[in-house]
Amino acid sequence: MGGKKFEDEDELIGEVRDWFSNLDANFFIQGIYSLLPRTGNIFSIYFGGTLVIVLSGYDVLKEALVKQGDIFVDRPLQGLSGVVQVKNGIIGSSGSVWKENRTSVFQIFKNFGLGKDVISQKILEEVEFYLAYLKDLKGSVAYIQDITTCATANVTCNVVLGKRFHYDDSDALCLIQSISEYMTLVGGGRMHTWFSFVKYLPGDLFQSKRLMTLQEEILVKMRCFIENVKDEERKGLGSSNLILSSIEKLEEKQKTGQPTELSMYHLERIVFDLILGGSETTSTTLLWFYLYMVHFPDIQDKFYNEIIREIGTDRTPAGQDKVRLTYVNAVILETQRLATISPFSILHRCSKETTIAGYTIPKDVQVLTHLDAVMLDDEIWGDARQFRPERFLKEGKLFYPEQFVAFGLGKRSCPGESLAKMELFLFTVSLIQRFKIVPSDPNNLPIRDYVRGATCCPVPFTVKFVQRTDA
Ligand code: HEM
Repeated sequence: MGGKKFEDEDELIGEVRDWFSNLDANFFIQGIYSLLPRTGNIFSIYFGGTLVIVLSGYDVLKEALVKQGDIFVDRPLQGLSGVVQVKNGIIGSSGSVWKENRTSVFQIFKNFGLGKDVISQKILEEVEFYLAYLKDLKGSVAYIQDITTCATANVTCNVVLGKRFHYDDSDALCLIQSISEYMTLVGGGRMHTWFSFVKYLPGDLFQSKRLMTLQEEILVKMRCFIENVKDEERKGLGSSNLILSSIEKLEEKQKTGQPTELSMYHLERIVFDLILGGSETTSTTLLWFYLYMVHFPDIQDKFYNEIIREIGTDRTPAGQDKVRLTYVNAVILETQRLATISPFSILHRCSKETTIAGYTIPKDVQVLTHLDAVMLDDEIWGDARQFRPERFLKEGKLFYPEQFVAFGLGKRSCPGESLAKMELFLFTVSLIQRFKIVPSDPNNLPIRDYVRGATCCPVPFTVKFVQRTDA
């Protein structure tokens, strides 16, 4: 096929070597950014023998992930990382396995009323526990990163396992820490993503052995969850949850002789993927929201005033309120846009040679989609680095530009999007209805910078949640 070829860029090699020698995933992001002015919206890098194409810019991403969606839908042949080689479940799988696992999860979510009342009720149950915890702090200076991750993980657990965990449950806390560490190590452009041989090196400089141990530990835990759910069901104590629904689906298919890829092997990974995908993403977004509210108290006041106007203080917010709270929705969108917690999304693969923006993309090449570059593109947003919720309002109505790509684009876009949006709405509105978020030290606001972990999380900070007098 014709089209432009990528040129060897010797000077880039030096820079790429620098990122790796720093062994810090932040350098990976900054490194890619530093190349953009010279390379434009599409360029290639060799990581060892692996060719990786980086796609930036909305038109380029849309061309690949939407218009040529079938070609870019798969994950790399090696799975998520050369070291752990995940190819089952949803996040790391491809082809018919991925399709059936993802469709099955969507159907179950839909049956649970995702985006409707049932799911809102599950979220609101958790919100009450979370706000009770904040109330107990009595306005003192608090570090709330861990507790916020527990709260959002509990929402996912409620849907997937049919149960939540106490905030001081040491087993649950340990699992959340393991999942967070796993996400940090499996993502983020580390050495073992492309150089699987590092697992054979003595010691564990690149943390590949740690990653393999974590994966095994978490999978053991997932198997226990599945056995517990089956046990409760046998005792007649089962509540509706994704595990039970998946087992029913599998048994039904086996009974009626329908061909299926579903299996217990995939189910344990699906549970893993949903808890992994649904915990730190939503909590990190909430942390950015708290940080922005401390930096922009006028915006927090406007957010609160809309709640008072539309809901008042006599009742708790409900899922149905979401469509009326225009300014609130704009602030949440702006939080997601500016924070862009998943700047490089998850690796894709080009399964057939094709052309994007005039460039030939070879078959089986790995593809990094640079969401950050779209969300922070001045040509799209004008003043992209400013926190300005009004950009999502037009003539008093919510305006949702297609360039808002926080959940990815195309067939692989986030299956938890509706759940996450409802969580963000109910957590932020319920919290601001009852508390004012104020800085721990008004003369020393927390810095607005990120650390790259599982997601791009704000640098750890403390705040005070001061209960409103009319709450
Ligand atoms: C603010 C919250 C969230 C954000 C910003 C977010 C963002 C993303 C992004 C960017 C992707 C990758 C898309 C791609 O590969 O091109 C993704 C995939 C995924 N997310 Fe989310 N997500 C969020 C919440 C959730 C929740 C609540 C769940 C589950 C309960 C979830 C489950 C998943 C799964 C399973 C995938 C893999 C999809 C696939 O490979 O087909 N996410 N998410």
